[in-house]
Amino acid sequence: MTHRGAWNSRWSFVLATTGSAIGLGNIWKLPYMIGVNGGSAFVLIYILSILCVGIPLLMTEIMLGRRVQKNPIDAMKSLAKESSRSNNWKYVGGMGMLTGVMILCFYSVIGGWVLSYISTAVQEGFTGITAEQSSANFGDLLASPLTLLFWHTLFMIITMGVVSRGVTSGLEKANNFLIPALFIILFILLGYSMSVGDMQTSFDFMFKPDFSKISPITALAALGHAFFSLSIGMGSVMVYGSYLKKDVSISRTSIYIAIADTLLGLLVGLAIYALVFANHLDPSEGPGLIFQTLPIAFGQMPWGNFFGILFFILVAFAASTSAISLVEPTIAWIVENTRIGRQKACLGLGLFIWLIGLSVLLSFNVWQDVKLIFGLGIFDTLDKLTSTIMLPFGGLLMAIFAGYFMKKRHSKDELDLTAKTYNLWRMANNIIAPIAICSVFLYLLNIV
Ligand code: PFF
Repeated sequence: MTHRGAWNSRWSFVLATTGSAIGLGNIWKLPYMIGVNGGSAFVLIYILSILCVGIPLLMTEIMLGRRVQKNPIDAMKSLAKESSRSNNWKYVGGMGMLTGVMILCFYSVIGGWVLSYISTAVQEGFTGITAEQSSANFGDLLASPLTLLFWHTLFMIITMGVVSRGVTSGLEKANNFLIPALFIILFILLGYSMSVGDMQTSFDFMFKPDFSKISPITALAALGHAFFSLSIGMGSVMVYGSYLKKDVSISRTSIYIAIADTLLGLLVGLAIYALVFANHLDPSEGPGLIFQTLPIAFGQMPWGNFFGILFFILVAFAASTSAISLVEPTIAWIVENTRIGRQKACLGLGLFIWLIGLSVLLSFNVWQDVKLIFGLGIFDTLDKLTSTIMLPFGGLLMAIFAGYFMKKRHSKDELDLTAKTYNLWRMANNIIAPIAICSVFLYLLNIV
């Protein structure tokens, strides 16, 4: 029997799952995706995806994990057995674990960028930096494989170090102060952006509906990002749910997590685009967006260097709590199914991810021209494959299992909702989410 940890309190679970949700996806990815995908059209579909698909599937995934208290593969196996269904459902768990590992291969490289910005903020500061200098600094970082390698390695060591200490001791401590601190610094940044940036244009860019920009690609990107941002579709929330005690309301918790996650992402977006427009920068800059814009703000605002250091430290923490949740499912599976201990499992898997990460960091410089599928580079291939295909597909299968294959009384029992809200969840899980995911997939394949 392997010892399984349990969260010490309901609050720790909420914070840990929010910690998994809030990460580079909100602070680095959402802002640039909004710019690349045409602003408000993307935001609108993103919010709809969170409401109609994200929240119900977050509930589904927590429910599946808590019901059987196991890692994703064993959880799906037990759940299927409990409802007398095929053992093959375990592959849903397996695919999820693979997705998490694949995401971490690039996530850790971006986490490395954040660490390198902490070091720059501490050593040189951003005082008086111009838009051109800021872009040039970011370009220099990307052009230097050795620097990227150093920071990617450090990020992996930190992540695997926390995971190797186990779920209750490592994760809870990291999360308890992080989220509140992140919100506080964000409000300071937002206040600054409001006073010097072009908040009106930023607001219009993000929220004034422009239906002409809605396309299947925008829809897929927004839906995929809803999965990425809430950490659903790959079993990470399932594992966290499996450590959750039985007396906690899954629905309330899910809504809380989704609100915190979405709010944080959109507020970062507002702050950043106010600066982008005030400094005549390009909103569709891509993955370098926050690294090029924020130093300008920190370079001009009072106490800017202090806030800059604090901001990047908090982002690094947020990234590492998410990174942890990307590998925890696989580590839990290894520890519970083999004789390999947690430390060794972390070392082995960490090395593997680090190695693949090397190809990602090279794709920003010497391997820039290497193309894998659909003419995409290594970073883009891993990113698009996981966010827009594997996560929504994983979520779809979990929804189908929970809605059509799991015994109704089991989900009823676990979700513990009133009849009306249970039916609402069922409608979203069984009908709305699958239709939304399938139609976007079909669109993509040019079938509709
Ligand atoms: N939600 C995280 C973020 O927004 O940065 C990334 C992530 C973590 C995605 C865990 C998926 C996951 F299972």
